[in-house]
Amino acid sequence: MQAAPIVFAQAGLTYPNGVEALADISLTIATRSAVAVVGPSGCGKTTLLRTIAGLERVSTGTLSVAADATRAMVFQSGLLFPWMSVADNISYGLMTRGVPLAQCRERARVWADRMGLQRFIDAYPHQLSGGMQQRVGIARALAIQPDIVLFDEPFAALDAQTRLLMQELVCDLQRQGVCGTMVFVTHAIDEALIVADRIIVMSARPGRIIADITPQLPDVPIAEKRALPAFNQAFADIWAQIRSEVELQMHEGVR
Ligand SMILES: Nc1ncnc2c1ncn2[C@@H]1O[C@H](COP(=O)(O)OP(=O)(O)OP(=O)(O)O)[C@@H](O)[C@H]1O
Ligand SMILES: [Mg+2]
Repeated sequence: MQAAPIVFAQAGLTYPNGVEALADISLTIATRSAVAVVGPSGCGKTTLLRTIAGLERVSTGTLSVAADATRAMVFQSGLLFPWMSVADNISYGLMTRGVPLAQCRERARVWADRMGLQRFIDAYPHQLSGGMQQRVGIARALAIQPDIVLFDEPFAALDAQTRLLMQELVCDLQRQGVCGTMVFVTHAIDEALIVADRIIVMSARPGRIIADITPQLPDVPIAEKRALPAFNQAFADIWAQIRSEVELQMHEGVR
């Protein structure tokens, strides 16, 4: 189990085409904590996740992630293998790690149960709704028991009601202690406040951290949480930080 925190120290990343995606990022993410990242489109949220995943390297400063930390990513669309059943999609990461087939089947069954997919374990992705596909994507990521799980706008393509259910599901999984350290990118401020204890707000061009907010919200059911004055205050504070940047983008026609 990965014990070291994720530590960015004055880290920056400039892509080969000269785009400065991240600048002066100093951020420590404690092991097993749940952090959300919000910010306008193009501010470097995905880039930040990709550096933690080890898919990009910072070009200035440093990023330290325990070398043996297992990492998994969940994307906006499930990115499932269409020719594989739900069971095989869920156990894909285990199979590539050489876990014996019988054990893969068993883990897939456990995860399908946990995600409410038991009746669909032999179905194929095209037979599933968008929400179910995302559940398979999450199960596939978590089945390898990652030390770090990186969510990149996982619910952005879902309808509003399905999204509420998926937020509940992520909170339940956290309570069960199966998410490891979680970094969750979203454009939805309320979603950030539901799934994470700490919210990092980024500004655009280049992506910098402009706020680091840990609202003190009680551990109550989500519907109650949303109605709390402290929830609404935190929402307003975060929106105030992002609003001018989003307006600027709108006027410039940038996405
Ligand atoms: N591989 C790449 N090569 C060059 N530039 C890139 C690359 N990937 C991203 N960028 C640029 O880096 C900046 C940050 O991109 P990134 O995808 O990290 O933003 P984002 O915050 O995730 O945006 P969105 O909210 O739209 O998903 C953008 O200006 C983008 O065009
Ligand atoms: Mg992105």
